[in-house]
Amino acid sequence: MNDITRTRVAIIGAGPAGLLLSHLLANAGIDSVVIDQRTRAEIESTIRAGILEQGTVEVLSQSGASERVLVDGQRHDGIELRFSGEGHRIDFAETVGRGVWLYPQHEALKDLIATRLAAGQDLRFGVTADRVEGAETDRPTVHATDAEGRPFAIEAEFVVGADGSRSVARAVVTGSSTGGYFREYPFAWFGILCEAPPSARELIYSNSPNGFALISQRSATVQRMYLQCDPNLDPNSMSEREIWDALQASVDGHELIEGPIFQRDVLRFRSFVAHQLLRGRVALIGDAAHTVPPTGAKGMNLAVADVVLLDQALRALLLEGDSRAIDAFPEVALRRIWKAQHFSWWMTSMLHVGPDASDFDRLRQVGELRSVVESEAGRTYLAEAYTGWPLASL
Ligand code: PHB
Repeated sequence: MNDITRTRVAIIGAGPAGLLLSHLLANAGIDSVVIDQRTRAEIESTIRAGILEQGTVEVLSQSGASERVLVDGQRHDGIELRFSGEGHRIDFAETVGRGVWLYPQHEALKDLIATRLAAGQDLRFGVTADRVEGAETDRPTVHATDAEGRPFAIEAEFVVGADGSRSVARAVVTGSSTGGYFREYPFAWFGILCEAPPSARELIYSNSPNGFALISQRSATVQRMYLQCDPNLDPNSMSEREIWDALQASVDGHELIEGPIFQRDVLRFRSFVAHQLLRGRVALIGDAAHTVPPTGAKGMNLAVADVVLLDQALRALLLEGDSRAIDAFPEVALRRIWKAQHFSWWMTSMLHVGPDASDFDRLRQVGELRSVVESEAGRTYLAEAYTGWPLASL
């Protein structure tokens, strides 16, 4: 092996976590190389969730990573929880004085990729990371295969696994490619995009005897909606009529505006936290470190919180030779990760109807929803978590 690229930080994965980290590091004068197995077109077109916490928006806009989020994103000051045929608004502005932004993740990715390329970032698409070696040395190395099938290596002072739920870097950090705390759920979401005007001004999270539905938006003419389904459902097995009838029944009492459905997908639900986030000079962030079910809209926000911490730790390590912050990174990051795990699990279990739910379970769930919406403390807890806890520092 004689093709070696040298850099300060090697970042595996050009998702939100990897790209934002390269951007923040560059702001501090620290060079990095970012590789991703996917093509740029694949990354920019993959449909993901759309809610950004206020802190995420502040990081993206204030660091210069995305100016568009404040222009094209829509600020939302509340959500509706629907159950027993009635809607209950959780007012974020009134309870916590903060908000969230509806701005699809792939739009944030387009901004990040454009910003990094304009700044001359070494960003390589179609490159597969094969393995990471030397975690416990000062020169950890990523062994990779480029888009033409040629092997090469990236030798760095630090390696970051931002390579998603099927992370390659995880093996060297945790000792196994699957090493982590894990939970699966007996349901999934059937997501659609349709051409129609918005059915509601804010997001509606609905619990009904037919299961869960989420009414989200994308623009004045395109809407995103989700319906609880069996994880093994074939998204093409339902007719448009059946989908609309099921959605309508699940938001019982709220009239949906229908339109042609042009995209369908099934999202599986998983909760996962890696057993370790750091080994020597290799760290895991984003989905490589954790996965949450989408009900709490925490996925990308948690990735950004990881990045903010790791950026601080790497500045201290690489600019000042101070390793205290990197040593503290896992413990501090895990506090937020487990809070977000709990919130995502809680929203999921409170709103979905399990396949073997008894009448007791259903009625208890309605009691739980009432305890939230009829209590200022309950509404405030939900609003605090949904809009995002303050970003920590090391
Ligand atoms: C979305 O708009 O795709 C979305 C919004 C909120 C969620 C999940 C997905 O909790």
